[in-house]
This record gives sequence, C-alpha cells and structure tokens, in this order.
Amino acid sequence: MGIAHTINEKVFRQIHGNSLVYNTCWEDPRCDRRLLGLNENSRVVMLTSAGCNALDYLLDGPAEVHCVDINPRQNALLHLKIALLQHTDHATLFQFMGHGVAPQARDVFHEAIRPRLPDLYSANFWERNLHYFSTKGLRKSFYWHGSSGTVAWIIRKWLLSRPEAARLTHRLLESQSVEEQLEWYEQLEPLFLNRFVQWLVQQHLVQSMLGVPKSQQHLAAAIFPDGLFGYIRQCLRHVFTRLPMSDNYFWKLYFFGRYELDCCPNYLRPEHFATLAGRADRIGTHNGSLSDFLSKHPGQYTHFVLLDHQDWLAARRRRPALEEEWRLIFENAAPGAKVLFRTASFEPNFLPAFVRERVRFDLDAAAWSQANDRVGTYAGTWVGTM
Ligand SMILES: C[S@@+](CC[C@H](N)C(=O)[O-])C[C@H]1O[C@@H](n2cnc3c(N)ncnc32)[C@H](O)[C@@H]1O
Repeated sequence: MGIAHTINEKVFRQIHGNSLVYNTCWEDPRCDRRLLGLNENSRVVMLTSAGCNALDYLLDGPAEVHCVDINPRQNALLHLKIALLQHTDHATLFQFMGHGVAPQARDVFHEAIRPRLPDLYSANFWERNLHYFSTKGLRKSFYWHGSSGTVAWIIRKWLLSRPEAARLTHRLLESQSVEEQLEWYEQLEPLFLNRFVQWLVQQHLVQSMLGVPKSQQHLAAAIFPDGLFGYIRQCLRHVFTRLPMSDNYFWKLYFFGRYELDCCPNYLRPEHFATLAGRADRIGTHNGSLSDFLSKHPGQYTHFVLLDHQDWLAARRRRPALEEEWRLIFENAAPGAKVLFRTASFEPNFLPAFVRERVRFDLDAAAWSQANDRVGTYAGTWVGTM
C-alpha cells in the first residue's frame, strides 16, 4: 500500500488535473432513455463526462439538465458542443464532432464560438487546443486527443502495424450480422489480446489515462481469477459477439477516429439539430463535485445520473465522501426520484447501508440494460427509485 498507493493516486490526479480525459461519453444513452423515463417535468442532475448524453437526454424534453464535473475541461467540451449547435450549422458541427477534423477551426472559433462561450476558462482552453481539430500532425482527429483518445491512438497504431489483426478488425467492425462478427472475433481475439496488450491494460498509467482509478481497477480485477485482463476479455467478447456492430458508434469511433452520419450519437444527427439547438439552454454546467453542486444549489431533482464515478469513491478511506454525496442526493430528491449508476463490480458492496434501505432497485430493468448496452464495459447497471 504505502508508497505505491501514493504514487498511483498522484499519477491519476496529475492526469485528471491537467487533461481532457473523455472526448466522448462512454455510457449508452439508448439504455438510459428506457431506464430513466424522462419527460417535461424532469429536473436532471448528472455528471458531464463529454456532454454527449446530456444532449441526448434533451430529446426527451426535460425541463432542466444540470451537468456537474470536477474536471472543468469536460464542461469546456460541452460548452463547445452547445456553441456549435446554437451558432453554426449541422455541417460545421459534424466537421468538429463527427469527423473530429475541421480545416476552418480557427476562423469558426473566432467568429462564431469564442464570443458565445459562457466562461473565460472554456474560451482559453479551446484557444490553446484548437489543434485537436487540425488536418496536420500525426493525430488527425479530435478523437485521438485527450488522455483516453491518446491511449486509443496508440492501441490503434499498434493494431494497424499488424496486417492480419488490422484486416480482421476491419471485417469485424464492418460486419452486417452478429454471426459474421463471431466468425471474425474468434480469429481476432488471440491476435489482439496477446501478452503485450495483457501487460499494457494492466498498467496504472494506461488505466488512469482511460479514466479508471485504482479503486475501480480493484473492483473489476476482483471479479475474475485472471484479474483486470479477464474482466476486459469478458467485456470485449460480450460486445463483439452478442451485439450488432452496425449501430455501435462507441467502439467504431476508437478504431476509425470518426463517426459516420448513419452511426453516431443522436446529438450529431441532422434530424435532431434544430431541436437540440432550441433546447440547449436547458443545460446548466457546474465545475466541482456533485456534493458541492447539491450543497450550493439545493432543489427537488427528479433524476440523478451518476455514471460510474461511485467506483472512484469505493475505497474505504473515501467512504465519508460517498456517504455525504448520498445524504445530499436524498435531501435534494423529489418524491419518487430515480437514480442511475454503473459500476465495475457485480454487486456494489460499497453502497452505504442507508442507500439500500431507501432506494428500490429495479433488477429486471438493469438486467435488460446490461444485455443491450453497446459500451459493455461495466459489470453492473443499477437503476432505482427513492
Ligand atoms: C466517472 S467519469 C466516467 C466516464 C463515463 N463512464 C463516461 O461516460 O465517459 C465521468 C466524469 O465524472 C467526473 N467526476 C468524477 N468524480 C466526480 C465527482 N465526485 N463529482 C463530479 N464529477 C466527478 C470526472 O471528472 C469525469 O469527467
């Protein structure tokens, strides 16, 4: 524990304190939509991540969506998406966030975006990082930037350097049926999940860049005899051999570095552009912890979407923070409010006892979600009513 633990914490904090970590949301809003049942009376509190899912929820017409993140770069990304929606056209939005490459990025930014960004932090962040969208340089896509994008870029480079693995990955991702996928995946798995990848994915630095702290690595590793690697193998097998690839924009993004119009998040679809531009003002952003937000903005919220961040608070020494967060959630919940979270554990044993007493979890809905989730990297989905 001791020194190694302190170093691990420092590495994670260093990355999260200095980088955009998530360049896309890594949770499936199609499942969330069914689990949450949002409507015009909904007042949602959620973690921002890359902001894609907050925009997706707007399609259900909630009254308010409060996006909270301790990493201000994540809210800066959501600000950019909102400004592109409200002050440019669909083609420009798709260049930036669909292709991840915008040759006119600097002009668009100065004419249409910068004056509309809600804070100086976001304006300065994008001023410094417009090269993420550049057509020049080695990493020619926004989706190869940020810490998780950097890991994706490295793994893809390695994969492309091995012709047979590259060929099989193309076949797999372009398959038109699950049967076809199974055929390609069986051939690809031994080439892809070799000793190098086994070593790579177990490195704390790599996991930190992907946004997985040590506490969450422990939860995942505890489930399988071969630890974290076993967990990853099981997740990949499920996603690639049981769920159609044709609409899996999550995994395709990290191989192709871009979305396509017929396989992308809802907020990038042309048919939703006008609706989302009109509703984007219903989103509020807050830099800070969830507890901080709820203390400063008490209210009667109807939905809490916690993503998987409770795993970050699962370590024993973090339990007081976890308990405080739940206490604030209960204090600020409208009657019958819903809570949704995902976790790398089968059973969230870290939940404080009073949560189990006050939340009725819907196990059937969660099982449906687990089976259909296109991301597929969480061992558990928990949705409950308070
Ligand atoms: C927990 S991560 C998980 C990513 C997620 N699965 C996704 O969709 O990309 C989501 C975000 O939560 C933020 N975060 C973690 N703990 C938080 C807390 N206590 N309060 C607010 N934001 C938090 C991180 O900075 C990160 O941007």
